[in-house]
Amino acid sequence: CGIVGYVGANNAGDFLLNGLRRLEYRGYDSAGIAITNESQFHVTRSVGRIDALAGRLGSNPVDGKLGIGHTRWATHGPATEENAHPHLGGEGEIVLVHNGVIENFQILKNELIEKGYVFSSATDSEVVAHLIAEGLKVTKETPEQPTLRYAQAVQWAIAQLRGTYGIVVAFRDHPDLLIAARFGSPLVLGVGQGEYFVASDSSPLAGCTDRIVYMADHQLAILTPDGFTVLHRDQGKVNVQIQPLEAVEDDVSLQGYDHYMLKEIYEQPESLRNAMRGRLDEENATAVFGGLNLTPQQLRSVERIILTGCGTSWHSALVGEYLIEELARIPVSVEYASELRYRNPPIENNTLVFGLTQSGETADTLAALRETKRKGHRTLAICNVVGSSIAQAADGGVYLHAGPEIGVASTKAYTSQCSVLAMLALYFGRIRHLSYEAGTNIIADLMKAPGAVQEALACNEHVKTVAEKYQNATNILYLGRQLNFPTALEGALKLKEISYVHAEGYPAAEMKHGPIALVDETTPSVFIVPQGTTYDKVMANMEEVKARGGPIIAVASKDDPHIDAVADDVIHIPDVPSIIQPIVSVVPLQLLSYHIALLRGCDVDKPRNLAKSVTVE
Ligand code: G6P
Repeated sequence: CGIVGYVGANNAGDFLLNGLRRLEYRGYDSAGIAITNESQFHVTRSVGRIDALAGRLGSNPVDGKLGIGHTRWATHGPATEENAHPHLGGEGEIVLVHNGVIENFQILKNELIEKGYVFSSATDSEVVAHLIAEGLKVTKETPEQPTLRYAQAVQWAIAQLRGTYGIVVAFRDHPDLLIAARFGSPLVLGVGQGEYFVASDSSPLAGCTDRIVYMADHQLAILTPDGFTVLHRDQGKVNVQIQPLEAVEDDVSLQGYDHYMLKEIYEQPESLRNAMRGRLDEENATAVFGGLNLTPQQLRSVERIILTGCGTSWHSALVGEYLIEELARIPVSVEYASELRYRNPPIENNTLVFGLTQSGETADTLAALRETKRKGHRTLAICNVVGSSIAQAADGGVYLHAGPEIGVASTKAYTSQCSVLAMLALYFGRIRHLSYEAGTNIIADLMKAPGAVQEALACNEHVKTVAEKYQNATNILYLGRQLNFPTALEGALKLKEISYVHAEGYPAAEMKHGPIALVDETTPSVFIVPQGTTYDKVMANMEEVKARGGPIIAVASKDDPHIDAVADDVIHIPDVPSIIQPIVSVVPLQLLSYHIALLRGCDVDKPRNLAKSVTVE
């Protein structure tokens, strides 16, 4: 979920709506804003996108100089208007927006119901709203510091919460006061001239102010048009650091493409160039990174690497595992961030933990990095969004420089992650056993990636015809081996995400131990079978599927002389060195899912039930 707040001299609604649009990547199943006007809350909520909310506000505008807003990704309770934020507390004394999950909400809810509070939603967030209203009852007014009581009421309430929260609260009886508090869910403050902003991340602040405060856990901010104060739960008043907000690239137009996803697929030659720019050192046959923040000694002594992330980022981690182990001979383990955060695996000294994330806001990845950092391990982020929560939480890292990725299904960030991981593998290899000559060859191979992806994109029209043929399939298998096994997983995930067709990625040879039972003439299999060491083996796996009547789509090297005889449909990709194969072979799969989704009438850029970045665990 994404939250915003405004207090100042201008009309709150403009900032709130624009801000929510920029936070839509955090969820888009319902949205709402509350604006204070003449000591009354005007709450407007709507199911669906920010556009739907804007439509409602357009026909029923509300002016006011203080307000809060929310875009939701449902956790507790379906995406209905009642469950949309903001939520009123008590008898309308307060209004609140919340990002996070309150784990003990049911116990608190029962207690509040006993006290007479009436709930109008199924959310955990409404509990916080009522609890703050109750807090106002149990705290006393201090005439010399009128805002203090409100802060104490919020503190009283959040002390009882278990789980995570970023909240912004407005008060009926103090109409120029906002209180924001965070634990586990990011919040930033924007410092303007006589106006103050709150948001889940810095993106809504662009164009409004260039001064930002990153709130930390257990902090609470009191904002009025006259200024702001930050308090810490245990330490009292905090002297916060106001930081400059770096201007971010904000070109998010479609530039003639029908969808962001298609645009981003086509941007890959450029995004790959940007990922590699300035990082390949041909003279020393290695890669260079400016932000690892580790001494050569520390890097040399790394004995183990953990790669962690979620979704597509987890798939790029699997590619990284092959490459780093192969080139640098460092043992690598790949962990789902959501599992790693609670799993407590024994981690040796000299382990480096990389969090992979496009957005830098995924709650599980953030928590996994924090947990490993707390245990004393060095954490690095491989991340696209500059200044994001994970980029800040890590000890250092590598930015992808892929530019804004708007389509919910990740495409260009994935290939950029693969290229950064390949460069890291080269770098770690070169401070260990990899020869100068091998390093030089790897650089030459990596430099072929943008051109090869450009060439692969030429398959688009053909992929469209393949999509037409298979658009009604209800089940598709994706099969590949070694470096192309993650490609199979990623191809299947892309299809599931945007076309809602069930798909499974499997190691091609493992398929015979179970999924082959699914094969029949209605279940197509997509084989990723470029030239390489396992080519013959994968061809044999393909024959096994063919023998059982399964239709076969093959992604194969362009001069493959054998493939036409076995596969029903062949999508050709350029013949490339194995290190960049995952980058090139995923391109037709991205396009295949795009076209199938379009043919099935799906919303490609904002698929149902998903969020670009899941900010709750
Ligand atoms: C969400 C998105 C996925 C994405 C994952 C990780 O689930 O829908 O497409 O891969 O989060 O996101 P991150 O920003 O951490 O890479």
